[in-house]
Amino acid sequence: MQVVAVSHPKGGVAKTTSAAALAGALVRMGHRVLVVDLDPQSSLTLALGHLPNRVWPTLAEVLQYRHGLEEAVHATQVKGLDLIPASPKLALVQRELHGQEDYTVLRARFRSWLNQSSYDYVLLDTPPGQGLLTLNALILAQQVLIPTQPEYFSAYALRYLLQTIRWVRLRFQPLLAYQAFLTMYQSRNRAHAWIRARLEVTLGPGLCRTVIPLDTKVREAAIAGLPVTHFAPKSRAARAYLALAQEVFTHEQQAAGRVEETAGRVESAR
Ligand SMILES: Nc1ncnc2c1ncn2[C@@H]1O[C@H](COP(=O)(O)OP(=O)(O)OP(=O)(O)O)[C@@H](O)[C@H]1O
Ligand SMILES: [Mg+2]
Repeated sequence: MQVVAVSHPKGGVAKTTSAAALAGALVRMGHRVLVVDLDPQSSLTLALGHLPNRVWPTLAEVLQYRHGLEEAVHATQVKGLDLIPASPKLALVQRELHGQEDYTVLRARFRSWLNQSSYDYVLLDTPPGQGLLTLNALILAQQVLIPTQPEYFSAYALRYLLQTIRWVRLRFQPLLAYQAFLTMYQSRNRAHAWIRARLEVTLGPGLCRTVIPLDTKVREAAIAGLPVTHFAPKSRAARAYLALAQEVFTHEQQAAGRVEETAGRVESAR
């Protein structure tokens, strides 16, 4: 079983969209998948067809030790894909974690339960920023996938996450691997091509070959409460997410070895 955090410090770079779509792709590849919504905004919960104020119990009750994990697992419209939802209450829990500087509650709560579960993959959708919920996710995960818009600010903010990954590796999880990929890519946009070329140099093999194109089907899929792989399987975005899942989940071992090398290069890049 592989635990994967989907993370980027900047907002709106397609973390939630990618978590849902990659989960859908993994189900299409024959795997059992659990997704966990770690964002108090609860976008992933909504994107998979649940209303944050109606679904209960959620991750907040699990982290407060009020409910067991099993009770917080909810089915989605996709067979083989389960969800632990978020709710606005998670913002309160996040403040409590900050007060206690608690980096490991997620790991304490999930690790042994996950080892006994029948899931092949667990995807953690993190909120923007690098708050305690995000740090908890990175400490539980074995792999971080980093969706990045081909825009200067997103590409620049990547370095903050890579520094955090390095800190997590030193203190908690030496084998934490990462791979970045480009989202909402427009092949005719010269600025996008320029950022892609720069990231190829800076990240080397830490940047996925597969890019996710801009595609309005992604937005329609969220309204329907389905991953794009199931809402519009033939769309450009669905095919790209399937290719991405094949690329990142069949090369896990190589990815693990890349972290040191690429993190060093990124920190020295301007
Ligand atoms: N490939 C795509 N084509 C078109 N629109 C997209 C694509 N990917 C994401 N979007 C849209 O971009 C917006 C931001 O996406 P999303 O909510 O997944 O980002 P996020 O990184 O999770 O944001 P936040 O930081 O707020 O959690 C959404 O409206 C989503 O529908
Ligand atoms: Mg999100």
